[in-house]
Amino acid sequence: MKILTILGSPKKKGNTGTVLEMFEKHVGDGHEVERVNVSDLNVGGCLGCYACQQNPDEPACAQQDDMQDVYEKILAADAVVYASPLYMWGFTSGIRALMERHLALVSGYGSPDYKSLVAGKRAALLVRLGGPVENNAEFIQGTFDRFIGYAQCDVAGKFMVPLCTTPDALGDEAEGVAKAMAKAIVG
Ligand SMILES: Cc1cc2nc3c(=O)[nH]c(=O)nc-3n(C[C@H](O)[C@H](O)[C@H](O)COP(=O)(O)O)c2cc1C
Repeated sequence: MKILTILGSPKKKGNTGTVLEMFEKHVGDGHEVERVNVSDLNVGGCLGCYACQQNPDEPACAQQDDMQDVYEKILAADAVVYASPLYMWGFTSGIRALMERHLALVSGYGSPDYKSLVAGKRAALLVRLGGPVENNAEFIQGTFDRFIGYAQCDVAGKFMVPLCTTPDALGDEAEGVAKAMAKAIVG
């Protein structure tokens, strides 16, 4: 299986990046994992021009930035992991821009011509957060559900790692979540 992981933290070796590394290790042999770090990319938010909607057969986004490469990687993957620290009860602005750009992967939303170029791909959410899940991480999970429903992907799971301080302080709980996520994706 080909898995694309997308890290939305501004820090590659921060809390979220560290759990994602654990996940990548647990995926095991026989699978291919590729990482995209949003902090390395120049990906702007959607311009709302709807030019992409004129071509339902390919990601015809008018914005010529690093998202063009990311589209290719998403299309080539069997599964995509969206990983973000919780920022203001939601996704970081970096991964949010990339998510907005998924508009070019879906056309005819709400019409009989509704078509998603990523329909049926497996998708998972990984969130690291400073506080607890309750009364804190509901919004990001709800957004993800809507986003994945819109893209017609298949949700492999939503994985929360709460109450984190520094990457060094990561305990067995984080390792367990990373392992569970690997199992949910590759079986
Ligand atoms: C701008 C900002 C907003 C944050 N908002 C929240 C929040 O709403 N809820 C929460 O529990 N933690 C919040 N945090 C804490 C981060 O989610 C937490 O420190 C996370 O582990 C950082 O992951 P990273 O090291 O991968 O960047 C916030 C941190 C920052 C810098």
